Amino acid sequence: MRLYAEDGTEYLDAVAGTFNLPLGYNHPCVIKAVEQQLGLMSHISSDLARPHAQRLVDRLLQLAPPGIDAGWIRDATGSTAVECAIKIAQKATGKSDVITLFHAHHGQTTMAGSISGPAWRRRRFPAYGSPGVLRVPDPNCRNCFYKQTYPSCGILCAHRIADIVQQAGRESTACLIVEPVLGNGGNIVPPEGYFQTLRKICDDLGILLIADEVQTGVGRVGSFFASARMGIEPDIIVLGKGLGGVGLPIGAVLMRQELDVLEPADHSFTGGGNLLALAAAHATLDVVGDEGFLAGVRRRGGYLGELLGTHLQSHPVVGDVRGVGMMWGVEIVGHDGRPDAGAAAAVVSCARERYRLITRSSEYGRGNVVKVRPALTATEEDLDEVVDRLRMSVHDVAGV
Ligand SMILES: Cc1ncc(COP(=O)(O)O)c(C=O)c1O
Repeated sequence: MRLYAEDGTEYLDAVAGTFNLPLGYNHPCVIKAVEQQLGLMSHISSDLARPHAQRLVDRLLQLAPPGIDAGWIRDATGSTAVECAIKIAQKATGKSDVITLFHAHHGQTTMAGSISGPAWRRRRFPAYGSPGVLRVPDPNCRNCFYKQTYPSCGILCAHRIADIVQQAGRESTACLIVEPVLGNGGNIVPPEGYFQTLRKICDDLGILLIADEVQTGVGRVGSFFASARMGIEPDIIVLGKGLGGVGLPIGAVLMRQELDVLEPADHSFTGGGNLLALAAAHATLDVVGDEGFLAGVRRRGGYLGELLGTHLQSHPVVGDVRGVGMMWGVEIVGHDGRPDAGAAAAVVSCARERYRLITRSSEYGRGNVVKVRPALTATEEDLDEVVDRLRMSVHDVAGV
């Protein structure tokens, strides 16, 4: 998780690249597997690669939540894997529309971008090709759209989805897509009971539930699939980012058997299911698929949360520290308690310039959450160092 500039300066990466390096930049198991595969060949056409992809599907299914028993690996990015999941939902249901959360991020291809949250991003591309989209409020208890308080709200944000779908087009709605933890949208961890309610609503309305685990999957929250830890029973799961271990690009879509409806020609890319990426994914599974490794992630993730809570939570410009596993966010607010995206950006840049710590904030959501998502292999000492440098950055920016 350390990077070196040309002049030798060392940087500590607290966000695992683009949240896609669960094993850091150079885990020897993955590097070796990819090198070996490169010595053999890096590409064969997807028809011929099919048995190799199927072996990876089979291994993923062993770890997948109950009921998920088929898969499709022909993508090289999360965005097209999300599109694959939606195409499956559309083909299986014969309906077109998608329900998404206000601050969701599902990618940047035209379809994935068009179903993602913030309007300002879509405005730049007025011709974004879009299925019908129903946008619904996030389960964000700190900034509740309905001005309610959990648990007395009875999880209104989930229940109202049923009313919205009834009013706005039950006949045309194919699926609801959610991130187990809204990553770019502000590290929002939905409250207890939210996903169970969504499951029931989807069943009642006859729509499919897709878990976009592009960011949360592959051990990030302390279980291989975030759905398991967050209590989601999805019909379809999308993986991307972390599956390549050290940055090899690959996406995967897993689903219930009866949703295995795509023909090869329906969704396939030249670089999808590339042999190097498959080799990397197998080696990543060897490490992250191990329950002992995941127990370590849960333990060290808890440690990271405690450190952030102890050293940052009480700071006047920190509105909230929230997360699960190795996926944490520090919400930066002004002295009036309102989201302060400028200060969050200043913390990120101060951390990098002054303390050689790489973090990220995001223009999605309210833009005021500094993300801390280190490699899953980070030791307690690494985490001490991350939080120490972040604490100093927050202090410097806030002038307290
Ligand atoms: C939850 C989620 N879904 C989908 C994507 C898109 O993945 P990619 O950038 O690999 O296309 C991202 C990327 O940030 C993401 O966070």
